[in-house]
Amino acid sequence: MTSFIPSLFSRMEFIGATKVAVSEQPVNALHLAKKIAEAKSLKVLRKGVAPDRIIHANPCKASALIEYANDNNTFLALCLFCQGVRMMTFDSAEELEKIAKHLANPELVLRIAVSDPTASCPQIGKYGADPAAIAPDLLMQALELGFSVAGVSFHVGSGCKDPSAYRVALKHARNLVDFGRKLGHVMKIVDVGGGFPGGDHHPSFEQMASIIRSVIDEYFPDNDVRFIAEPGRFFVDHPCTLVVNVIARKAVNVKHGETATTHMHYYVNDGVFGCFNCIVYDHVLKCGRPLFSRKTESFTSTIFGPSLDSIDRIEQNKVMRALDVGEWLIYEDMGAYTAAIATTFNGFARPTPVHVVSERIWKILGLAGNNNKN
Ligand SMILES: Cc1ncc(COP(=O)(O)O)c(C=O)c1O
Repeated sequence: MTSFIPSLFSRMEFIGATKVAVSEQPVNALHLAKKIAEAKSLKVLRKGVAPDRIIHANPCKASALIEYANDNNTFLALCLFCQGVRMMTFDSAEELEKIAKHLANPELVLRIAVSDPTASCPQIGKYGADPAAIAPDLLMQALELGFSVAGVSFHVGSGCKDPSAYRVALKHARNLVDFGRKLGHVMKIVDVGGGFPGGDHHPSFEQMASIIRSVIDEYFPDNDVRFIAEPGRFFVDHPCTLVVNVIARKAVNVKHGETATTHMHYYVNDGVFGCFNCIVYDHVLKCGRPLFSRKTESFTSTIFGPSLDSIDRIEQNKVMRALDVGEWLIYEDMGAYTAAIATTFNGFARPTPVHVVSERIWKILGLAGNNNKN
C-alpha cells in the first residue's frame, strides 16, 4: 500500500482523517477544549505527527477551541493549536470574524462546496462556500481582516461514486488560487479532502487517482501548490473485519397461500446501534457469511442486532445455511464509520478490537524477533 500510493499520486500528500476510525470521547460545551486536547489532539500528536501535517478541517469551530488555542500558559497548551497546529478551514464571514477575535496567525484554508450527489454520503450544503458566488468575497473579507489565506479545500462526499466531481472541484480551486493570489493571498495549498473508496462498492482507488492526477497536471502544471488529501474510509475500511456471534435464533413459519416455508431469524451480538450503525448513517448494505463452512440446510434468513429496538436489523431475506446459537458470522470491510460511531445503547458493549498481522506482513514491517507485539 505505501509504495502503491505515491506511484499513483506523485504530487499528493496524504493526511489520515481522524473522525472515521478513532473513537472520541463525548464533548460538551464546557469541557470542549480540554476534551479535545485529551481525546483527539493528543492522540494525533503523540503518534508523532508533525503539527504542520495536521489540519483542523471543520469550518465551523467552537470559539472555545480557538480561544484556548491561543493560551500557551495553561494545561490547554496541549491543545492542537498550541502545539503549533495552525492550519484550519473556514467557509463563512462569521467564522473568519470568530477566528480573527481569537487567533493571531492561523493558516486559513477556504472550504468550498462541491458535491458528488451519487456519493454514499453526499454533501448536503452543511459545509463549504459556493465557489463562484461566495468564495471570492470571502477571500476579500479575509484580506480586510488582515489574514493571508493559505489555500482551498473541499470534500466531494464520502464514498464518492463519480470521480468527475474532483475535476469540477479542482477547476474551482484553480480559479480561486488565481483570484486569491491576485489579491495578495499565499494560496499555496489545495486540500482535496476525502471521498476515496473503502470496499468494493465504489470506483477503484486507481480510477480516482488517475482522474485526479490528470486534472492536477492539467490545471496546476507549475509545481507551486502543495496538494494534500484526507482519506478516511480508504485507509481503515478494508483492514477491519467484524465477527459477530449468534446469540439466539428462531424458526418462523411464513405462509404463502396454502403453503408455508420456514424463515430463520438470527439475533447477533452487534447491531445498528453498534458497528452496524453504518447501515443507517453511511447508507451501506452489509453482507455477512458464516465464518466456518458446514453442511446444513439453507433458509431465507433475517439477521437482527441484539437490542430491543425493531429498527435493529442488519440483513433481511438472505439465503444462508442454517446456523446454531454460538456460531459466527463474518462481515468484511467494517473499519470505516463503524466502531467510531457505535453506541452502548440498551447496555450492549462495543466490540473488542483484536489486532491480527500475518507472518508475512510482520516480517515486512521488520518486527520479526520483536517480542513486544503490542
Ligand atoms: C473534512 C473531512 N476530511 C476527510 C474526511 C474523510 O472522508 P472519507 O472517509 O470519505 O475519505 C471527512 C469525512 O467525512 C471529512 O469531513
